[in-house]
Amino acid sequence: MSKKKAAQTVVACGDKTILPEGAKMIPLIIMGKEYMIPETLTVMKAIEFSGYKYVRGCGCRGGICGACGFFYRFEGDYKLKTGLACQTVAEPNMIITQLPFFPMKRSRFDIRSLEANPEEMIRIHYPEVFKCVGCGTCTRTCPMEIDVMGYVAHMKQGNIKKAAKKSFDCILCGLCASRCPAQISQPTAALMARRLSAKVLTPTADHLKSRAEEVKEGKYESILKELATLDEEALKTLYLEREREPDLSKTGEWMPEDQSRL
Ligand code: SF4
Ligand code: SF4
Ligand code: FES
Repeated sequence: MSKKKAAQTVVACGDKTILPEGAKMIPLIIMGKEYMIPETLTVMKAIEFSGYKYVRGCGCRGGICGACGFFYRFEGDYKLKTGLACQTVAEPNMIITQLPFFPMKRSRFDIRSLEANPEEMIRIHYPEVFKCVGCGTCTRTCPMEIDVMGYVAHMKQGNIKKAAKKSFDCILCGLCASRCPAQISQPTAALMARRLSAKVLTPTADHLKSRAEEVKEGKYESILKELATLDEEALKTLYLEREREPDLSKTGEWMPEDQSRL
């Protein structure tokens, strides 16, 4: 171990990692500088352990928000890899940098007054999807294992519903867009497909519509006012004693005994 590495001080990190006794230290290169970090940490914790403090590029820490996409390659390997810093365990000699933001194209449109049918809307707002060369880089890049090239193909075919379904797990990390040779912003085009699918291609939920109308008409005003008068203990009791749907009940079978407030 070099003198520099031996002198590396252990700093408190965001979630107070406590090193197990005899933890093995491994080298990690963060934005060009080498650090020694204990093995088993995620890349995000390793970055914090190395003394960095997150002000961007970190959100849920649970693989949901898409804020922590990062690039890495191993010393001597030509392959550029990607992952989510909060979900990927650091390995020795990873050379890493994070991508806290990537400028993707955002086309503005009003979902309440669409100027064309859904297929046309994609053509109007994201015509570059037709420049896809089918290289598959986006699919190989996606940390959520989404078939990105597949949903782009559905958009080209005018199958908005399938594009919406296939892209549903997208967390908008932007990693796929950052690598597309055709400069397509796949995640924002897919977001439009999902909005169009929900607005135009999916049957309306009549019960939700009527409930929203009831809310607007003030059906629940008196109950809310009543709740606002209760103290903390009474609210806790009400919450804990509420009727709850059993975990394994079949869809549509369970109804609460007290239906006075439905
Ligand atoms: S990276 Fe771009 S060009 Fe390549 S398959 Fe994906 S969308 Fe098409
Ligand atoms: S489709 Fe693109 S933006 Fe969405 S999760 Fe995958 S890589 Fe990230
Ligand atoms: S911090 Fe949200 S996905 Fe990693």
